[in-house]
Amino acid sequence: MYKRYHELVANINRWDHEYYVLDNPTVSDAQYDQVFHELLAMEAEHPELITPESPSQRVGAKPIEEFQKIEHSVKMLSLANAFSLEETYSFFEKAAKELDRSPASLALFSEPKLDGLAVSIHYEHGLFSYAATRGDGAVGEDVSHNIKTIKSVPLKLATDQPPAKLDVRGEVFMPKAAFAKLNRLAEKSGSKRFVNPRNAAAGTIRQMNPVCAAERDLQFIPYGIGEYRGDTEFTTHSEIIAYLAALGFRKNPHCYALSGSFDALAANYLVMEQARATLPMEIDGIVYKIDELALQIALGFIARSPKWAVARKFPAQPVVTQLLAVDFQVGRTGVLTPVARLSPVFVGGVTVSNATLHNMDEIDRLGLCIGDSIEIHRAGDVIPKIVKVVAQGDGRKPILMPEHCPICGAAVARTVGQAAFRCTGGLGCAAQAAEHIRHYASRKFMNITHLGSKLIELLYNNGTIKTIADIYTLKPGDIAELEGQGEKSAQNVLDSIEASKATKLEFFIGALGIPEIGEEGAKAIARHFKNYPAIADATLDELMLVPDIGPVMAKNVVGFFSDARNRAIIAAIIAAGVTWQDGQGDVAQEQILAGQTWVLTGTLSVPRNEAKAMLERLGAKVAGSVSKKTSCVVAGRDAGSKLEKAVALGVKIMDEEAFLQAYAEN
Ligand code: IVH
Repeated sequence: MYKRYHELVANINRWDHEYYVLDNPTVSDAQYDQVFHELLAMEAEHPELITPESPSQRVGAKPIEEFQKIEHSVKMLSLANAFSLEETYSFFEKAAKELDRSPASLALFSEPKLDGLAVSIHYEHGLFSYAATRGDGAVGEDVSHNIKTIKSVPLKLATDQPPAKLDVRGEVFMPKAAFAKLNRLAEKSGSKRFVNPRNAAAGTIRQMNPVCAAERDLQFIPYGIGEYRGDTEFTTHSEIIAYLAALGFRKNPHCYALSGSFDALAANYLVMEQARATLPMEIDGIVYKIDELALQIALGFIARSPKWAVARKFPAQPVVTQLLAVDFQVGRTGVLTPVARLSPVFVGGVTVSNATLHNMDEIDRLGLCIGDSIEIHRAGDVIPKIVKVVAQGDGRKPILMPEHCPICGAAVARTVGQAAFRCTGGLGCAAQAAEHIRHYASRKFMNITHLGSKLIELLYNNGTIKTIADIYTLKPGDIAELEGQGEKSAQNVLDSIEASKATKLEFFIGALGIPEIGEEGAKAIARHFKNYPAIADATLDELMLVPDIGPVMAKNVVGFFSDARNRAIIAAIIAAGVTWQDGQGDVAQEQILAGQTWVLTGTLSVPRNEAKAMLERLGAKVAGSVSKKTSCVVAGRDAGSKLEKAVALGVKIMDEEAFLQAYAEN
């Protein structure tokens, strides 16, 4: 029975290899099914027989609960891109120069660039051990449960002398036909269609339940190896590819040996461009690799990509459609972006009905009107771009920037010298609120240390905080109930809000997110006006007197404070207890002398009250006489009795020069 069992396992694995790897089935479906049933029956009766390479082991019994992290023992790299023949050639010219060779003397190997996702499959003594995604190149995620379901991935390598360890690196992808079938099914069942075969493959690999992957006809084709401990010696990349095919993997179709000459690269591209349409899978370019491993090692890597391989990407495929309308979206910073609504077209595996237009200048440049026929480009899953007007539409209508924000109704204005139009709704515009809150709480401004971007996003999306003033109405429960938060972290957030309330005028002004008024601008304004009402009521002319504040900035400040909603929000913040010390807009120093008492004596080179103000800015109290409690005496020229008393009491003494230097350093 043991023998029969192993015969069944070997037969099915051979048939799978013939069918899924060699595209050459040798048995009928009926015969295959019958043998598979026999195997399952045997395993049900004698579970002790089950071996890891049994085809029944491809689909695990249970879904996984979470993705485990896996460290790649050899990093998984990426590739540099080239977008033209010239760029491709110059990549190898550079490599050749480094090797002191001519490009034409380099032996290259070309492979289709498969459009899927990279995985590394680890084998131990010939048996499938685990498979991981690329992740950040150093650490990926364990996706063994899904990769095992791919029939073109051998569970056991086809060799009598398996290497002790082998990482097979390659691309998992969904063939075009499988993708079309999947989307047909999705349409029938009313579920969401996948955008393209790559997303479908990636989405499948990220499933917890392997049953899903098993149903989806994914394929795997290797393009290299990672860790390897075995006896076979390789001198070229093409030998590695041949070795992997011998172990039972699929071969990348249309691989060629060529030289690195300009003509050879040009000819290869023409061949591959032709081949592309006939291939059963999506490819998005050609990968050229220097074949000799010694040369690869000599060249090494730069950043995350090898200096011996480059991906020549195919250009995006152009498609023509009609511009139906243009809507305006208000971004997080208040910029209005035109969005083109298109007559839906199928391009690069996706139905496209929107495209960004960036700004009004681009619309002018394209000479675009509603109703025109336009050419669009789409590269990968990037949002499509309108390239040009192909034909003007009948009764075409101009595209106009709205006068009022579509979200909050405030006026829309264009900043002089800039392409962008902005909503002037400030703190009251819902589209900008999350960004305003993040800016307000950031380290540079209100420094609410525990209110990070993620938490803001959550609180904003669930409607808990709509404006920056709502930060001060947060209750522990608002935070504790969020995913990943608890009572302790809620308390930390509230504590940090409380701690941030005592601030400085310049930080508060900067935190308001007035367009063009950043850290420096806010500091200049706070220094000049010294208190909040003066800033809020400043006229354009008054603001123009502030050093480093130009007309655009001045106009933005006046505009900001003339908006009643902004004023109301600020009033609520002040009512919530946010404070700063008036007249201290120019305080850049920390209050390092808080709680200390200092005494000034003798003739100082700065006016006495200026020196006093300097000390007070650092938090010190300035007293007129020396006592035991005096922290320090600053002694100018001709200091007399106070200096003597300080010496007698053992109080610390500083001369003026030391004091000024210490002050400057703070
Ligand atoms: S070689 C050290 N060869 O493209 C070189 N990559 O843009 C590693 N890809 O992460 C990559 N087909 O997922 C190589 N024939 C091929 C490829 C290929 C597709 C993917 C791979 C890689 C990405 C880089």
